Amino acid sequence: MALHRPGKQRLTLFLATLVVAFCCLIVPAVSVKHESFKTCSQSGFCKRNRAYADDVTALGTSWKSPYELESSTIELKDGLLTGTVVKTTTLGEKVRLPLTVSFLESGLARVVLDEEKRVKGEIDLRHDSKIRKERYNEAEKWTIVGGLNLNRAAAFSSEPEAGFTKVQYGPENQYRALIRHAPFEVSFQRDGETHVKLNDRGFLNLEHWRPKVDAPEDETQPEDESTWWEETFGGNTDSKPRGPESVALDITFPGYEHVYGIPEHADSLSLRETRGGSGNHEDPYRLYNSDVFEYELNSPMTLYGAIPFMQAHRKNSSVGVFWLNAAETWVDIVKSKSTANPLSLGAAGKKTSQTHWFSEAGQLDVFVFLGPNPQTISKNYGELTGYTQLPQHFALGYHQCRWNYVTDEDVKDVDRKFDRYQIPYDVIWLDIEYTDGKKYFTWDPLTFPDPKGMQEQLDESERKLVIIIDPHLKNENGYPIIEELKSKDLAIKNKDKSIYDGWCWPGSSHWVDCFNPAAISWWQNLYKYDKFKGTFHNTFIWNDMNEPSVFNGPETTMPKDNIHYGDWEHRDVHLINGMTVVNATYRGLVERKKGEIQRPFILTRSFYAGTQRMGAMWTGDNQADWGHLAISMPMVLNQGISGFPFAGADVGGFFGNPDKDLLVRWYQTGIWYPFFRAHAHIDTRRREPYLVGDPYMQIISQAIRLRYQLLPAWYTAFHEASVNGSPIVRPQYYVHPEDEQGFALDDQFYLASTGLLAKPIVTKDQNSVSIYLSDDEKYYDYFDYTVYQGKGKSHTIDAPLEKTPVLMQGGHVIPRKDRPRRSSGLMKWDPYTLVVVLDKHGAAEGTLYVDDGETYDFEKGAFIHRRFRFTESTLSSEDIGTSGPKTGEYLKSMAGVRVERIVVVGAPLEWQQKSTVTVIEDGSKEATTAPLQFTAGLAGKAAYAIVKNPNVGIGKSWKIEF
Ligand code: NOJ
Repeated sequence: MALHRPGKQRLTLFLATLVVAFCCLIVPAVSVKHESFKTCSQSGFCKRNRAYADDVTALGTSWKSPYELESSTIELKDGLLTGTVVKTTTLGEKVRLPLTVSFLESGLARVVLDEEKRVKGEIDLRHDSKIRKERYNEAEKWTIVGGLNLNRAAAFSSEPEAGFTKVQYGPENQYRALIRHAPFEVSFQRDGETHVKLNDRGFLNLEHWRPKVDAPEDETQPEDESTWWEETFGGNTDSKPRGPESVALDITFPGYEHVYGIPEHADSLSLRETRGGSGNHEDPYRLYNSDVFEYELNSPMTLYGAIPFMQAHRKNSSVGVFWLNAAETWVDIVKSKSTANPLSLGAAGKKTSQTHWFSEAGQLDVFVFLGPNPQTISKNYGELTGYTQLPQHFALGYHQCRWNYVTDEDVKDVDRKFDRYQIPYDVIWLDIEYTDGKKYFTWDPLTFPDPKGMQEQLDESERKLVIIIDPHLKNENGYPIIEELKSKDLAIKNKDKSIYDGWCWPGSSHWVDCFNPAAISWWQNLYKYDKFKGTFHNTFIWNDMNEPSVFNGPETTMPKDNIHYGDWEHRDVHLINGMTVVNATYRGLVERKKGEIQRPFILTRSFYAGTQRMGAMWTGDNQADWGHLAISMPMVLNQGISGFPFAGADVGGFFGNPDKDLLVRWYQTGIWYPFFRAHAHIDTRRREPYLVGDPYMQIISQAIRLRYQLLPAWYTAFHEASVNGSPIVRPQYYVHPEDEQGFALDDQFYLASTGLLAKPIVTKDQNSVSIYLSDDEKYYDYFDYTVYQGKGKSHTIDAPLEKTPVLMQGGHVIPRKDRPRRSSGLMKWDPYTLVVVLDKHGAAEGTLYVDDGETYDFEKGAFIHRRFRFTESTLSSEDIGTSGPKTGEYLKSMAGVRVERIVVVGAPLEWQQKSTVTVIEDGSKEATTAPLQFTAGLAGKAAYAIVKNPNVGIGKSWKIEF
């Protein structure tokens, strides 16, 4: 056709084609399909609640919140306050909202507001719907595992004031909840200061049930009902059988400029304002687990998982809130100059973070944490939602994944190549192509004819296999799993209760409803070795697409009016859906064969508060570019702050092909992700580290070895997380809560309490990095002991491509294993190196946790927990564990594991004269000596000393005198 065009037109077309082609070349980055996901103004309840807030703000003091706590209904008994809040509607109708405020032993307070009519079932549903009439009240069942004991000592305060209820609670009854009756508002105080306020701005809005009344045509509606009933987006209509039912509340943190948490977003750690303005977002942070393809950076858009938990921080004080709601949620944040409030003394002159939370359905249920520091908040939050499970040791190693290793021979070949090039790894992964036609729990008979042989080869070097199992099940006749799903009635339903059918990898699919106890037991049984043939003790699971992702669903997920077990709407439970799949898988993996009990390993893409109890998460489909590398660290740090520290991002970037520099820098960053996995899209070129050629391969392999060398420290960090909820990698504010300059830093971080401070390079062509130090301790370069010191300043460190910038803070003892091996399993009996990094007073301290790394025997005392201390020229190892029935046996098995080397960094000059140290091990008859070698520090480097083979047991108590 073009041939017949007149010449000028042909030229224009040619030029246009050139321009398009050129543009394609210079703008290779792909970007999210905005039109597939709602903005706030396209989501009815988001729009209504923002408008409500705007109206209230515009009215200023002339506006009065219509929520009032009836004084006569208030009772406080055994730590539980009950009462009724009455909402007066614009038409003068009174809506009764039962209120409970639980004062918990942990010092937390929990405020729950429900709707009486719905509790009693006195409402009518539209469209003859058969769903539940109550507001969803089972989020707790999936999320909360403890910490709900009531503080029976909570009491009305002795200073009564008309119109207020004051309750003393918390540690030694030092906290105070100040409840104003009309309008209803609650302030939480610690040490006489207000730290958290609910409904301070009057945005509380619980949309009560009301019938749909069709007004006669000539009458206008008293309220704008345009978003109350059916809601259409992207061609899908949500039938909303209960009409508008959102819950919203403003939560203010007076004097707190920084707020963190509410993952998952590709954004900075310190959250931004969301009401527009320079550097701010226009939309609230959204929590609506979705398969957001090619996600955008520095954005409040929702991603795959959600944890509605926020920490607020200011100098020397942290507080927090946990908004327990499983429906779609948005959070607006603005920061204002603090008003002169006599009750917030320390806050004067600082900014106040004002947040506004709104969820589409469910009860209003919010926990208030009064800190006072980040550690206490992590602990309290973990008590409530559970701590990170202590994973199997292998899970801390390096994971090699791509979509896809295409045959079992391919897997074996990759495995051999890692050995040939001497690069350690622990786990190789199989993506969806291993299955027979995307039918999970099967193997493709042509490409994976011998899963057993493949896994036997991996097992020889103690390596593992992780295979993917998604919750969408192929709707194909004769596939036994789908037949069972249907016959046992275990699938998620349409609004008319027929089985929901949607489109995912296998084509037409149904989704298992893991809210259903019968579905849980069924799903769990599918993992038994005799059922899922071809899996063995070294096979573990990856649950992907569990938001759930539905290619033809609204916003790539399930219609909100779908129905789950218990007749709850999908709307009510959406955020929890992914976690229920992991829960069922977890149960399945605990015992796949009678008597064989090992800790499960599951990676999940979707998550909610509590998923940390069951596995690891990763940040989904990122891209092979520097921006995605840079954002990965704030995202991983934020997971830690939000109680789910076992987190990582796809090393190398999922979409696209990283150039070699980017790949190297990504590995140097990835070794600091608690979950360290490389992964790549099916359309990308192969990029296993041995393929990149020298020097890149050598540099990557050095980085991976650094991870392996530090595995004892990593495992100790995971143990800490599993008992006190602390992040595994910690941002500056968390470690130095007093240093305001560090509060927004999210590109450098500490590895747990080891004192290791890393700052990976995440920009192109950068050969040095500047690390900020909050304290006046000495910091030493990890590799050459160059000393950096100076509080409140940044220090420049050379970091050519081959260097991973990391410092050691003085005052720590870092446990390592220095012998390079093929996998972490092969390091089990290796000796330890202890790096003693002296502080400015010549002291240091550190801990080590060790167990079998596989079973639950640690619960019966089969572990080693030591504290190493260096003071007054003596290094000692002291037992800080508690013993149990299996302690003795375990210690016996570990008797041969010794310390082979001690490195003292910052060694005093007097040691120059010494050539030996004295070693005294508990239980030995005589003291022995070991050689000491001193090296003076030249040109800005610290002196160090090495004790060779002190030959003390890792599980023993001992002293070494220098
Ligand atoms: C989406 C996941 O995010 C990605 O990691 C995976 O490779 C594909 N699904 C295929 O299973």
